[in-house]
Amino acid sequence: MHQLYINTIGCQMNVYDSDQIERALTPSGYSRTDQLEDADLVIVNTCAIRSKAEQKAFSFVGRLAKLKRRNPDLLVGVGGCVAQQEGEKILARAPHVDLVFGPKAIPRLGRLVERVRLQGLRVVDTEDTDGFEELDLASGFRDDGQVARFVTIMQGCDNFCTYCVVPYVRGRETSRHPDRILEEIRMLVAGGVREVTLLGQNVNSYGLKEDLGSFAELLARVDRVEGLARIRFTTSHPKDLSDDLIDAFARVCKLCPHIHLPVQSGADRVLKRMNRQYTRADYLERIGRLRRARPDIAITSDFIVGFPGETEADFEQTLGLIEAVGFDGVFAFMYSDRSVAPAAQFKGKVEDALKKERLQRLLRHQEVFTLRASKGLIGSFQDVLVEGFSARPGLAGDHAGARQWSGRTPGNKIVNFDQDTDCAGSQNVHPGLLIGVRIEKAFTHSLWGRPVWVEEKPGGSKGDTCHAA
Ligand code: SAH
Ligand code: SF4
Ligand code: F3S
Repeated sequence: MHQLYINTIGCQMNVYDSDQIERALTPSGYSRTDQLEDADLVIVNTCAIRSKAEQKAFSFVGRLAKLKRRNPDLLVGVGGCVAQQEGEKILARAPHVDLVFGPKAIPRLGRLVERVRLQGLRVVDTEDTDGFEELDLASGFRDDGQVARFVTIMQGCDNFCTYCVVPYVRGRETSRHPDRILEEIRMLVAGGVREVTLLGQNVNSYGLKEDLGSFAELLARVDRVEGLARIRFTTSHPKDLSDDLIDAFARVCKLCPHIHLPVQSGADRVLKRMNRQYTRADYLERIGRLRRARPDIAITSDFIVGFPGETEADFEQTLGLIEAVGFDGVFAFMYSDRSVAPAAQFKGKVEDALKKERLQRLLRHQEVFTLRASKGLIGSFQDVLVEGFSARPGLAGDHAGARQWSGRTPGNKIVNFDQDTDCAGSQNVHPGLLIGVRIEKAFTHSLWGRPVWVEEKPGGSKGDTCHAA
């Protein structure tokens, strides 16, 4: 057996792709290790979204030169979005790199690695082929005990937001055939997975170009997979959020009440320059409709601060939007120039120091709402899907200091609870089980509670009560 080490940088798509990389190389005799020193092949799965992510990739690739000097047989591959963007240039920049491949080359990876290993070639494959490229599912999944997994349903993006590199590195938007998606989910569920997150840059437009049925239809099919307990998806683009999808939050039983709806800015003139194709009012109107369809829905978002031309007044509009919505949580980023994206040429660049200041102000402003959303759950009963042990010790009286289990609520909030509790059945807790927890404490990024019931028949009862006759 050869040992494969993968360093994954970037979004959930890259997390999914890293698993695909592992699957693609299993038939060539590679098995994944988490020890860099043991590896025969190291792959860096890179992200190009902001310059920091790109620097992180190059700095890790740089470190591998030393490792390769010690072990000349070591093979080094660079995959992902930086690989797609830079191609051959990576070979020139880093003489110890053997292989450069884009996200669409993953199904061809077995052959590419053979060429490197057996013929001693340095290989580049950044071909952007049409259609959804996928691996043969027969190569199976390694059961690593994860109970919540990502499933990619779309590749690429057609939206061309003016700051964003994704359409250039991931190519045109392409949807995966629903039968393949269902097949993969059934296989995951057979291996113990109970929650899937469907991934695409803009899931709202799933299937439309290829006439594969709508995203709402796909959700209805996934909902009927026996043994699956929860469905999530990301990301939705506010401009395409349809009534059908909003209704899905009321209709699709296993769909968790959480939506990540990146808004980026609260100022219309910034949204226009970003080419987001919605206004602040459109966004707020959609939030209203979502809350009417599903009053308990948790809403999270992404923001970019310091977009070229963003004034203090624009930024205050963003703070105002944060107040108007009351998000459960947000991610915020300082605008980063990407040379292929049009905004790199825009005038009115905002100084780094001011971007930093706005980022801090935004995060401080949001903190109140994040805590308010968590505190609002104190006293409530939440279904928690147990994912594993938490890093923190227990909190409850006699049991303080013992280990804690960790899982998520339907609204995607992390809940920890003590391993030793008085709840009947809690001795048999394991990842993949649904537990009813009474929430007693709220922190900014997690909740703490006491189990009050434990699912009796794991892998069945709760998820499937949805569709009981
Ligand atoms: N498809 C998703 C986002 C994918 S990228 C969507 O449209 O919402 C994830 C986040 O990175 C974006 O929501 C945005 O907030 C941020 N981002 C993208 N390009 C960026 C850039 N050039 N500088 C800073 N942040 C950026
Ligand atoms: Fe980037 Fe916009 Fe596409 Fe999201 S929708 S991936 S931000 S271009
Ligand atoms: Fe990064 Fe590529 Fe994802 S640029 S955010 S890894 S699609």
